[in-house]
Amino acid sequence: MPHMLALLFLAFSVVGAQAESGASTARAIQAPAQNIVTSNILELITIPRSSTTSTQVAGLAKRAEDDNGTEAYLSTVQGRIYLASVTFGGTPYTVVVDTGSSDTWLAKTGFECVSPTTGTSVPEAQCAFGPLYTPSPTLIEIPGLEFNISYADNETLSGTLGYELATIAGLSIQQMVGIVDTAAWYGDGQSSGLLGLGYPTIDSAHDNQNISGYSFPTTLNYTPFFATLCVDAGIPAMFSLALTRVTPDNPTGGGLLALGGIPPIAHSPTFATVPIQALSMASANPSAETPSYQFYIVTVDGFSIAAIDPEGSQDDSRKLPLAAAPGAPTQNATATVDEDIGGPVQMIVDSGTTLIYLSDSTAATVNSLFVPPAVFATGPEVYVVNCSAVAPKFGVYIGGHLFYINPLDMMLETELAGTCLSTVQKAGGGLAVLGDVFLKNVLAVFDVGAGEMRFAAREDY
Ligand SMILES: *[C@@H]1O[C@H](CO)[C@@H](O)[C@H](O)[C@H]1NC(C)=O
Ligand SMILES: *[C@@H]1O[C@H](CO)[C@@H](O)[C@H](O)[C@H]1NC(C)=O
Ligand SMILES: *[C@@H]1O[C@H](CO)[C@@H](O)[C@H](O)[C@H]1NC(C)=O
Ligand SMILES: *[C@@H]1O[C@H](CO)[C@@H](O)[C@H](O)[C@H]1NC(C)=O
Ligand SMILES: *[C@@H]1O[C@H](CO)[C@@H](O)[C@H](O)[C@H]1NC(C)=O
Ligand SMILES: *[C@@H]1O[C@H](CO)[C@@H](O)[C@H](O)[C@H]1NC(C)=O
Repeated sequence: MPHMLALLFLAFSVVGAQAESGASTARAIQAPAQNIVTSNILELITIPRSSTTSTQVAGLAKRAEDDNGTEAYLSTVQGRIYLASVTFGGTPYTVVVDTGSSDTWLAKTGFECVSPTTGTSVPEAQCAFGPLYTPSPTLIEIPGLEFNISYADNETLSGTLGYELATIAGLSIQQMVGIVDTAAWYGDGQSSGLLGLGYPTIDSAHDNQNISGYSFPTTLNYTPFFATLCVDAGIPAMFSLALTRVTPDNPTGGGLLALGGIPPIAHSPTFATVPIQALSMASANPSAETPSYQFYIVTVDGFSIAAIDPEGSQDDSRKLPLAAAPGAPTQNATATVDEDIGGPVQMIVDSGTTLIYLSDSTAATVNSLFVPPAVFATGPEVYVVNCSAVAPKFGVYIGGHLFYINPLDMMLETELAGTCLSTVQKAGGGLAVLGDVFLKNVLAVFDVGAGEMRFAAREDY
């Protein structure tokens, strides 16, 4: 992927991977779990701009230094990542909630911080972690295992592995976690690590007796956090996410992660249901041609895109089903282009990715329909747009349902006043991703046991 201005926590394996086309879908090991509201709910937080801490500033400053100023100009701080509190060894830690990777890890006291771009040792504060993990009496370290992970934006972490007592949303398990002692990381000043909710095939534990075993994707395939919850805490094999955007009325944003059910939020009564699809790693590693379940990949049938004429004089409620966003000049708008484009395409559903990444041509179409159009900035290699532009009406077709993206989610403020980042960007040859921009508009059910995902539109909130 090109320069990531918003954090992108996808395990690195996605680069060069090919989604299986056609029939291969996740093997259902049980019937779909019911969409029942559960009490095992974890409240998620985002970091609003107003609470930017000095350590966060240090993280941003580091980007500016590393990237000669370009990246800081594009870094967004609003609602960029979703965090939750999980207790390890009796102490609560804030962690990033990521459906695009499978390891759960914590940065350990005394870790070494290195620059993601130069690999050289830098002051610990530049990694901008929250409180660091101190090994507790309940940690059982496992000799001979090494934790070593890279994410798609070149952040890398390594260390040891051990079993630790973890408590999440009222459920307690003993879980294999990575204990990080070297980190190349763009921290947020609050989180101490990451909670990976993906499949075991993309975990990053290695047996360091067999150094040749490092070649990806050979890993130990240990039981990751969510699978342990199902097996040891006995919850139904599904979890669901309802991410909430940051708005002036709700400056903290946040959301809910429900384990074994759905959260108590308003949503459409109808769900789109689609199978989770397998990924072939053949292009990344010829010995791994057998497709396996790694990310939450679904087939998107296509996209609906319509430019909104800000001078429009009629209220066309058919073409503008979304409630007008506060302050957005759409009340009188008319759609000037209304077409279905860009599908079918396989997309990763990833809470650890902020934006939506589409094929270059689909991204170009969407960006051309902002008024005025978003422009592709060479150098940072991203679409930027005037913050006072009118966003197109953009919808994603999944399983026969059309999910609109609220206009509020179509742009993100950058460090440069008046210049926004379009939230629909080019995948640049990589797999397409539905990140938080999409997830903020739906209740997303990850029914791992049945090998399917279900989506229901959120009521306007
Ligand atoms: C970085 O900044 C220096 C000084 O302004 C400039 O000469 C150089 O071309 C820049 N490098 C890049 C990659 O932009
Ligand atoms: C992590 O794994 C890569 C290969 O995947 C290897 O090149 C690198 O040396 C490892 N890093 C550490 C710190 O062991
Ligand atoms: C990651 O590092 C590689 C090699 O240094 C570089 O080619 C690539 O552009 C980097 N990717 C990002 C997202 O910075
Ligand atoms: C190293 O790998 C070989 C071949 O895969 C295997 O037979 C051996 O048991 C491994 N050694 C250890 C210590 O796991
Ligand atoms: C919007 O529509 C209303 C009534 O349909 C009209 O009175 C008003 O002038 C219109 N506003 C603009 C900016 O066109
Ligand atoms: C954005 O558009 C507004 C209104 O059209 C204009 O006043 C402003 O100069 C533009 N900002 C930038 C950064 O181009």
